Amino acid sequence: MSAQPVYLNGEWTDTASARVSVFDRGYLFGDGVYEVIPVFGGALFGTEPHMERLSRSLAAIGIREPLTRGEWQAIFDRLLEGFAGRDAAVYLQVTRGAPAHRDHAWPSAATEPGVMATVSPVAARSAGARTITLPDQRWARCDIKTVNLLPNTMARQQAVERDLDEAILVRDGLVTEGSATNLFAVIDGRLITTPAGPQILAGITRGLLLDLVRRENLVEVEESFITVGALREADEVFLTSSTKDLWPVLEIDGEPVGNGQPGAMTQRLDARFQELKNVSTNRRQRSPA
Ligand code: PDD
Repeated sequence: MSAQPVYLNGEWTDTASARVSVFDRGYLFGDGVYEVIPVFGGALFGTEPHMERLSRSLAAIGIREPLTRGEWQAIFDRLLEGFAGRDAAVYLQVTRGAPAHRDHAWPSAATEPGVMATVSPVAARSAGARTITLPDQRWARCDIKTVNLLPNTMARQQAVERDLDEAILVRDGLVTEGSATNLFAVIDGRLITTPAGPQILAGITRGLLLDLVRRENLVEVEESFITVGALREADEVFLTSSTKDLWPVLEIDGEPVGNGQPGAMTQRLDARFQELKNVSTNRRQRSPA
């Protein structure tokens, strides 16, 4: 991949040249938070809810807001200059900064937060996800979008080593979410997804889809936990994220979901979601998946 522009601590550079202090607490402790904002046809989608979630994450771990909303927007505008008409993802992160030495305790307020933002083309999404279930080994505040993603990356790696796409995480017999996705199931004509709370990251895609479904009365929705047993018996299952939209699950632990093809409800909701994105980004047509 060619070098992409990077905003780093007040300066502009690129992914080939950007350098971060070895004392940056994001690097040493995973002490920071991030966002991934999708770009469709060159336009950001869902910026407001993403920036609101960033503020919640920062407040939850006691990092001050490093930039105003207008300053962030100016950075996004510059990042997207080379992306007219293209699909991409803006990545931004804020860490607790780089004090003069390593210490578990937080540095004084004089230490500036570390700020980084860049943009990348999005990897193509496969037509459907083949998945495994794995124990959810994360901490008790999965609602914070922290860069501390070791359990998530370990779960994803276990899926990849089996030539699969995603790991579905399970805590005490109940499904929480994917390693980097939220999960929805269609059971007896109802759409069910894990309730927002400390056990999951309340995805922006999840929230926008729930709003759409309720606004247009597309299907009865329930926010409740489902067991792994119920997941295996579900008529349809799909995952959501900013880089995958609605991603049908075709297989769980080697067994097909439904008939092993994207389900009718999943396809209908995906079509409505694509329309929503088209309208809000003025995108003319969907890039190939
Ligand atoms: N991941 N759950 C987890 C654990 C996630 O990491 C993500 C997103 C989601 C979906 O959230 P959203 O709809 O806001 O993207 C749910 C991003 C894309 C990532 O880490 O790259």
